[in-house]
Amino acid sequence: MVQQMVRDFAQNEVAPIIKEYDRQQEMASFILPRMGELGILGICLPVRYGGQGMDYIALGLASEELEAVDTSLRVVMSVHVGLNSLGLFQWATEEQKQRFLAPQARGEKIACFGLTEPGAGSDAANLASMARLDGDEYVINGEKMWISLATKADHVLWVAKTNPAASDPHQALTAFIVELDRPGVSRGDIHGKLGVRAGSTGWISCQDVRVPAFNRIGEEGEGFKIAMACLDNGRYTVAAGATGLIRACMEASVRYAQDRRAFGREIGKFQLIQQKIASMVQYYDAARLLYLRAGWLKNLGKRNTRETSLAKWFATDASFSAASEALQIHGAYGYSDEYDVERYLRNSKGAVIYEGTSEIHQLMQAGYALGYREDASLRCELPAYDAEYWQEPL
Ligand code: CAA
Repeated sequence: MVQQMVRDFAQNEVAPIIKEYDRQQEMASFILPRMGELGILGICLPVRYGGQGMDYIALGLASEELEAVDTSLRVVMSVHVGLNSLGLFQWATEEQKQRFLAPQARGEKIACFGLTEPGAGSDAANLASMARLDGDEYVINGEKMWISLATKADHVLWVAKTNPAASDPHQALTAFIVELDRPGVSRGDIHGKLGVRAGSTGWISCQDVRVPAFNRIGEEGEGFKIAMACLDNGRYTVAAGATGLIRACMEASVRYAQDRRAFGREIGKFQLIQQKIASMVQYYDAARLLYLRAGWLKNLGKRNTRETSLAKWFATDASFSAASEALQIHGAYGYSDEYDVERYLRNSKGAVIYEGTSEIHQLMQAGYALGYREDASLRCELPAYDAEYWQEPL
């Protein structure tokens, strides 16, 4: 039912207008309020924190449906739910959950994630942003770049250095919630992106921004772990979304191959077209099973960093290949925006880069296989799904 509800929203309300917003490089203003109204922005959070009480699989299914229409919709789930809200659910105190998480889950406040900086992407531990304790406030300075929803959000989960003298840069970082209406915050949109043009991507700058110590999430020095744990959830939505994009490529290709005729027959009858469609079927089923496995592990409360990374790497690379093949099947028509496949190709590339490039995920997978990397237990784990607890009314 939840999958059908999200599909109806995406197909009926967004698909008809998406090309226009993609051309204008703008996010349609109804998207975020409507997703909030439908409960999608708090889909997998307990009712007591403003959510809908569904499980982590529901988050994956929703992400798949959203990206089957446009990547910009799934990006909302990645940053608002995966990278921010689930991070708070895992690491924040009860009071912080009531203050920050509950309005986010209800869709009253929009959230984003501030890890990446102009000079630090893959090498996240070496970011430059600073936070200094001054009385009972922290003073934050720094710049974040490539931040989805930067100009739409009310809260950012901001990672900054609190101990620049730490011998291990991983121990130097701390996470904060910064409300984006605080004095000293400025932000803007980035235009001219290859894809996800109907989405909002921008930068945020903090100049002597003061936040109460209450806004610190976790302990000082836990910022890197918190960011990585957030990415375990963001990457899950990216994997599920890329699976939806593969499905969209497959469905568009099947339709076109059954319709378009050449050399006296529909082109679907040609083996080279069939080979491309067969690859998409393979990509789709494999990507889907990989993200569902990660979601199932989350439901059980089991660590899934390796499985989520594998799902994200495979699904995003596969969606780029599927989109390229879909465009090829469409021939010259695919090269124009008369059809959706050129947008699918442009949109698919971003996910191969953000939330861990394919290269970072390959290093992680090799690290696990070779025994160089293993996951230590955390002070706060993502809670296992428990339907009774999740659905208990306020
Ligand atoms: N959860 C919790 N803790 C984790 C963790 C996880 N998933 N992964 C690692 N850690 C912990 C480790 O246990 C370790 O702890 P100890 O110091 O206590 O031993 C510590 O973090 C350091 O871990 P590593 O040694 O594995 O760290 P590394 O320096 O080797 O980095 C990396 C690993 C995989 C390269 C990592 O830096 C990485 O994933 N980089 C990519 C970052 C990324 O994805 N950025 C995109 C952000 S998206 C964005 O900002 C824009 C947007 O809006 C979407």
